[in-house]
Order: sequence, then C-alpha cells, then structure tokens
Amino acid sequence: MADRPLKVVVLAAGKSTRMKSATPKVLHKMAGVPVLQWVLEQAEAMGAAETIVVVGHESERVREKFSGRANTRFVTQEPQHGTGHAVMQAREALAGFNGDVAVLCGDVPLIRPRTLELLRHMHVSEEAACTILTALLPEPRGYGRIVRDGLGRVRRIVEQRDLAPQQEAIQEINTGTWLYDCTKLMSVLDKLDTDNAQGEYYLTDTVRLLADAGNRVAACACDDHTEVMGINNRKQLAEADRLARERILDELMIEQGVSVYQPESCYIEAGCSIGRDTVIWPHSVIRAGVVIGERCEIGPFAHLRGGTRLGNDCKVGAFVETKNAVYGDGTKSGHLAYLGDVTLGSGVNIGAGSIVANYDGKAKHHTEVGDNAFIGCGTVLVAPVKVGKNAQTGANTVVPHGKDVPDDTIVVGAPARELRKKS
Ligand code: UD1
Ligand code: CA
Repeated sequence: MADRPLKVVVLAAGKSTRMKSATPKVLHKMAGVPVLQWVLEQAEAMGAAETIVVVGHESERVREKFSGRANTRFVTQEPQHGTGHAVMQAREALAGFNGDVAVLCGDVPLIRPRTLELLRHMHVSEEAACTILTALLPEPRGYGRIVRDGLGRVRRIVEQRDLAPQQEAIQEINTGTWLYDCTKLMSVLDKLDTDNAQGEYYLTDTVRLLADAGNRVAACACDDHTEVMGINNRKQLAEADRLARERILDELMIEQGVSVYQPESCYIEAGCSIGRDTVIWPHSVIRAGVVIGERCEIGPFAHLRGGTRLGNDCKVGAFVETKNAVYGDGTKSGHLAYLGDVTLGSGVNIGAGSIVANYDGKAKHHTEVGDNAFIGCGTVLVAPVKVGKNAQTGANTVVPHGKDVPDDTIVVGAPARELRKKS
C-alpha cells in the first residue's frame, strides 16, 4: 500500500459547545497530551505525505501549539458550516493530488493504527471510491446511521436529527473516519448542500452522491467500541483519558517489563520511557515524557513531573515530588521531598524532608549536587547553589543561594557553616 500516496485531513474546527470551555476541545489533555496530538499521531502512523488540519474556533491557539510539526499544514474554516464545509477548506491543499485522502475527526483520538491499516486494506481491495470506518453500537443514538439497500450495499448516511422513525433502530454507525479516492471526493464536494435539519454541509452526504453516481462505497467495521468514541463533553474526556492510560499501563507491564502494583491507582501519562524491572508502587503519578531507568523504585505516592530523568537503580519514594530533576545512577530520595530544577550526580542520597527551594518569588533557579553527596534530613538547598562531590549536610541545614559547598566537606546549621573536611 506504500505505493498509493496518502494525505490526511483532520477536522478540528468545531466550536465544542458541549465542553463548556474557553479552551478548544482538541487542546484539552488526555493522558497528559492534547486530544489533537493523538489524532495527528494516527495520521503519522498511516504514513501520510501531508496532514491538513482544519481549524476554526480559537484557531490561533491550535496552530501555535502544533506549529513546527513536520508535514503538517493548517487551513482555516471560518465560519464553521459543517464537516463537508470543513473538508472544502482543504480543497486547495489537495488540488491535483492523485491518491487517497483519509478524513479523521479531531475529537476521535483512540483509533488504533491497526484499525486504520485494515481500513486502507479494504479500501484498496474493494477498489472503493470511499470506505467508511463503521461500528455496530448497542446504543447508536447521536451518531450518523449507515443505510444499505436490499443487496447490502451502502447507499447513504443519515444523521440522528434527520432520521426517519424506522431508521432509529439502525445500529451500524459512522465513526467519522473515512478514506476517499481524492479525485472522487473532489467530484462530489461541490455538490453538497445544506438541505438538512442542521442547515450544514454534511460530509456524510458524499456517500449518497458517490453511490448514486455508481461508485462503490465500502464499510469497514471496527469491533472495539472504545476506539471509536468521540469526545464531546468532559465526561467523555475523562473516559477517553482513562482508556488511554489503561493502554499505557498495558504496554509498560506486558511489553516493557515494568511492575505496576495496583495499576488502577497509578496515573501514568503518554510519552514516558520506563526501564525493565522498575517497580511502581500504588498511587504514583508520572507525567508526560518522564524518563526512568532500569531497576528503579517509584512510590507509593510519588509525583514525577515534567523533565524528570532517572538513571538506573534510583529511588523516588513516598511523598516525593520531582520536577526537571535529573538523577544519576543509584541516586535515592526515599521519603518526603521536593526536588525541582536540580541535577543530582550518581550515588546521591537525599534525606527525608529535604527541599530544593528553586523559586525565589520571581524566577526559578538551578541546583547541582555532586556524586555521592549525602543530603541530611530536612536540608533546604536554596537555588542557585552547588553541593560538591562527596559533600554532606547535617540535619536541618539551610544552604543559602550562592554559598556552594565544596567537595568532601561537611556543612551544618542555618545558614550552613563549614564543620570540617571529610577525612
Ligand atoms: C459526525 C458525523 C456523524 C458521525 C460522528 C462520529 C457528520 C455530518 N456527522 O457527527 O455521522 O456519526 O461524527 O463521531 O459528519 N468540525 C469542523 N467544522 C465544522 C463542524 C465540525 O471542523 O463545521 C469538526 C469538529 O471539530 C469535530 C468533527 O468535525 O472534530 C465532527 O464534528 P461534530 O460536530 O462533532 O460531528 P458529530 O455531530 O459528532
Ligand atoms: Ca463529535
């Protein structure tokens, strides 16, 4: 299939009224990353030559968030007159393109690459002008329904608000995910009208137009309902977030050799890398993009925030919060600590109750702790400051900013004074 060129159009211009939010729906986060990013990654997995994102509502914020993404172009739909009208905005970007066009909804983020592969297979093998990803739902209300003729051929899609009473019972629905022969799509796009209950240009009407002109329209059924769910309100956002994190946990436990105890209590976001034989205890939160080496121990009740990178054999124990914290191999922070904007060497021990005071009320500053340093319980390191290799602080020491502790030296008190060199 690689020989058939593909472009993807992502529909993300809608107002998302039901989210009741000042933030566009596609920028709301799911497992720590924006909903739209999940969809853009679907497009990438399909091997798209180019992805065209149709934006409208709060379009500047969406563009800004994804600016610089490779092979991605934004087009604006203003005002928003429906899904068909949204695709019309991509016409210029698709002009002269002689391949297939996938249309994905920006609010349907959980479709697996495998499902999209199957969709493409069917599209090619059936030589279809259009292939719809469908699902059989026990509760089809709200979705567009697939209407077939007596021979089982797909003839049209009818939206919920346009259904005739006898069509209400149809359980085969349109997931909003499509594959078109680009030329065929262009041949009907101009023929869409607004003669429907919502007065919009429906992309779904392309099915009737293509079928009536004698083209083959295929339907590829997705049997996992969780993949095709759309996010229209906050409850669905929470559900999609849960499903996404469940996948992340499965991947860690089944593929990566990571032990997660009471996984349903752990909140692990997307894009983390966790080494094998690392153990995660209950109620731990690991934010997007965190890197953890092998044989580490995390939690219970640990909070590893953005920019945290642990080497191998590290420990982030109970009630420890880290942010932009880099740990060398074998570095341990067992209990009750805040470690922000800090680079810890290897073999460092952070005593219980220690804090890196990274914020002076105006700006964040960086702290460095050398290899094998021993930070006594209740130490406050006021950033920016450096603690040397093999240095030591006594219990309740306050190391003021700029008062670096030399290598091999013990300091005590508040503010810290040199006690002696280590022998
Ligand atoms: C749409 C489909 C419906 C399908 C359902 C699956 C149409 C007419 N209906 O309905 O058959 O069952 O998805 O989830 O296509 N959008 C724009 N511009 C617009 C309007 C919408 O970009 O003018 C975008 C939205 O941001 C969203 C997507 O298109 O990402 C779908 O729009 P939405 O209004 O959610 O359509 P549904 O009513 O869910
Ligand atoms: Ca929707």
